[in-house]
Parts: sequence; structure tokens; C-alpha cells
Amino acid sequence: MTRPESIRVSGGNRLYGEVAVLGAKNAVLKHMVAAMLAPGDHVLENVPTIADVATMGEVLAYAGATCRRDGTSLHIHVPEHPRPEAPLELVRKMRASILILGALLSRCGEARVALPGGDDFGSRPIDMHLDGLRDMGATFELKHGVLEAQAPDGLHGTEIYLEFPSVGATENLLLAAAMASGTSVISNAAREPELTDLAVYLNKMGAKIEGAGTSTITVRGVGSLAAATHRVVPDRLEAGTYALAGAISAGEVRVLDCVPDHLRMELRKMEVAGCEVTHGEDWIHVVGPERPEPVDFATLPYPGFHTDMHPQMVAFLALADGTSIITENVYAARFRYVGELNRMGADIQTDGQHVVVRGTDRLSGCEVDGCDIRAAAALVLAGLAAEGETCVVHADHIDRGYAGFVDKMASLGAQITRE
Ligand code: EPU
Repeated sequence: MTRPESIRVSGGNRLYGEVAVLGAKNAVLKHMVAAMLAPGDHVLENVPTIADVATMGEVLAYAGATCRRDGTSLHIHVPEHPRPEAPLELVRKMRASILILGALLSRCGEARVALPGGDDFGSRPIDMHLDGLRDMGATFELKHGVLEAQAPDGLHGTEIYLEFPSVGATENLLLAAAMASGTSVISNAAREPELTDLAVYLNKMGAKIEGAGTSTITVRGVGSLAAATHRVVPDRLEAGTYALAGAISAGEVRVLDCVPDHLRMELRKMEVAGCEVTHGEDWIHVVGPERPEPVDFATLPYPGFHTDMHPQMVAFLALADGTSIITENVYAARFRYVGELNRMGADIQTDGQHVVVRGTDRLSGCEVDGCDIRAAAALVLAGLAAEGETCVVHADHIDRGYAGFVDKMASLGAQITRE
């Protein structure tokens, strides 16, 4: 049997130095799908080399587009007549593939998209995506695991009220509404910066979207869109992960090319935990405390504390001088990593929605399972502060969301290798 890929970290080094981040995974994946709305040559800049971008490239290729990389630029050529399909082997790899549904329906009047897989955070339905698209005139039939969607008369604008500000549902509806006939109003929309960036790109393509970044987005449908060039917004999760890597190692790290404003809540909680945080327009400087103070927080849609920063923050608080209580409000099950941190000596209890973290003054390295992107990152962070060696298996999850992770950590002084 082949051993899964792993990352080995020897704890004890204080991280020190500068690290730059690239464009956001959770933006560029949507931008790639958005490109399908307009034939011609698009260019996305500031694109990280991560596995999910490669997977989305395969999704686009299946639909007839071609993607070519040139450094951090991604050139996408979109044909006049895309093939309105996304197969199971690709959609299963990555939940974000479901966004192609709205784009293909809008562009082709039909789509056949396998139902998505994704990370193991409990059940992750797509009911809000489908309800909204139905309201816009689409019909769906599930046949052998494949959603067959039709909109023979095209999609039409309508008023949609989301019961939760789902990022993916808002984006799918935005993509569908951009070329629908009439005006769509999406209420209780997600306000994430990556979604706002998607609206900026769509507007560059000729869409008429107002209100992105607020809870009410208005889209006046246009007849066609044109290919465009766009620089992807920096990845706040990559930035936040390196900031916390500096903090947990009691080091001093400056994160460059980021947008500190997109991490307001996370940086505030880091300050309460005893970090010294300063920032400029596009950098963050963090000095970690010798030992963190406990902090309570609850994950919420933006601008609340990001659920994708929660495992890394819990790793940090595992070493706090006191007890922290964390509430997860976005996912039904995101605590598989807790057992792994406990194997390293953390004292964390969870009932499924809350975690109680009783801080300890030492963690000890061992083999742990990095079960999703952020869990794997959190376990590497814990390894930075643990005694001895930590081996994070299934480290390939990291490659889905962090470009050059091991090299960047090593450049900050971490003793880290990849196997
Ligand atoms: N939900 C429903 N019905 C729906 C849609 C969502 O019940 O139709 C539920 C989900 O099950 C979940 C919650 O609503 O409990 C939030 O889901 P949301 O749709 O907002 O998330 P997403 O679009 O599937 C994106 C990111 C995730 C990130 C979440 C929340 C991408 C590709 N993924 O997922 O990122 O955690 O928003 O901010 O953008 C990651 O990067 O590690 C990651 C998992």
C-alpha cells in the first residue's frame, strides 16, 4: 500500500520574516466558472498554483474551454458553444464545481452536472442553489446522480430570498442572473470579499451588478458578456494562516500582498489572545505572545469570524493560559481535527457545535490526520509549537488551498519537509 503524502514539522523554531500571499482560492474558482459566460480570451491574474485550480481547469476543459498558465496568470479561452456538462469524477473532487450549473444553464439553456462531493463537514446540501435557479425558470431532474437542468425559454430575473447567506448559492445565482432577462434581486446574500470580487469581474465583462458586499444584490440582466482581464483578490485565509503560524510559534511574521480589512474579526481575536498586530493597506505584522490568553469566538458569515480560520485558531488556543469556548455556526460538523489535536496533548472537548479548549502549556508531536484543507493547516501550526516531530498525513489536502506551503513555511524558519 502506498503511504499518503505527509508533512513533517519539528517544533520549537520561532518563525520570523516575510511571506507574500496570492489570489484567493475561493475567488479564482468562481472566476474561472464566470469566464464560461463569455466566449473569447479571459485572463485571470494573481492565480495560485493549487490543486483546486487544476481541477476547475479540468471542469472547464470538459465543457470545451482551454486554460493555460503563464506564471501567476491564467489564460482561459472559452468557445462559442460550450458543452453543458460536468462529470462525476471532477465534481466529486471539488464541491465548487456545482457553480458551473448556473453558468451553463445561462449560457446553453441546459446543463448536466453530477451532484457535488467536497470536504467532510457534515451534509452540505445545494437546495438554495436549486430553489433560486427554479425561481428563475429552470427545471431539474435527478437521474442516476446527475442533475439534468433545463431552461428552454432562458432564465428570467426574479426576487430571491436566501434563508442563509450561502456563499455558493449567492454566486450560482449571480452567474445565472447576469444574462437572465429582467432584473434579479438576491436578499440575504452572502457578503464575502471573494463574492464581491466575482461581481467586479462580471461587471468588467459587461454585467450590471449592484450591491455586492451587502445583503441585497441587484442584477440587471444583459444580453451578452465579453471576455475580460481581472486580478484576483488576495487570499485572506492564506494570509490568516501565516499570521497564526507566526503567532503560535511566538515568532514575528509579516504577511505581504493581503487585505487586512478582510480579516478584521480574526485579527481582533488574535489581539485579544495577546498578539501584537499592526497593519498597513496591504500587509499585516504579527508578533506572537509567549503564551496566548484564552478567547471565545463564534464563526459566522462575513464579516464574522471565518469558519475556515477556526481550526487554525483552535490550534493556537490549545496552548492558551485558560479556557476558550468556540461556537461553529456555519457547518454542522467541522470538528474531526479536534481528536487529532488531542492526540498531540491538547485538552479539547466538543459536542458537535461547540468546542471547549482548556489550554495546556505543551503539545507533543505525533502522527495526525489532516482531514481537510484547514484541518491539515491547523495541525501543521500545532506542530510548529509542539515538542518533537509532528507528521501530518493526507497533507495533499494542503495543496488544494495553499500554494508552496512547505517552502513558504521553511522560508520563515520552520523545520518542515514534505514526503
Ligand atoms: N447550505 C445549505 N444549502 C445550500 C447551500 C449551503 O444548507 O443550498 C449550507 C451548507 O451546508 C453550510 C452552509 O450553508 O452548512 C454554508 O455553506 P456555503 O454555501 O456558504 O459554503 P460554500 O459556498 O459551499 C464556501 C467556501 C468554503 C467556506 C464556505 C463558508 C468555496 C469553494 N468554498 O463554501 O471554503 O467554508 O464558503 O465561508 O468558496 C475552504 O476554503 O476550506 C472551504 C471549505
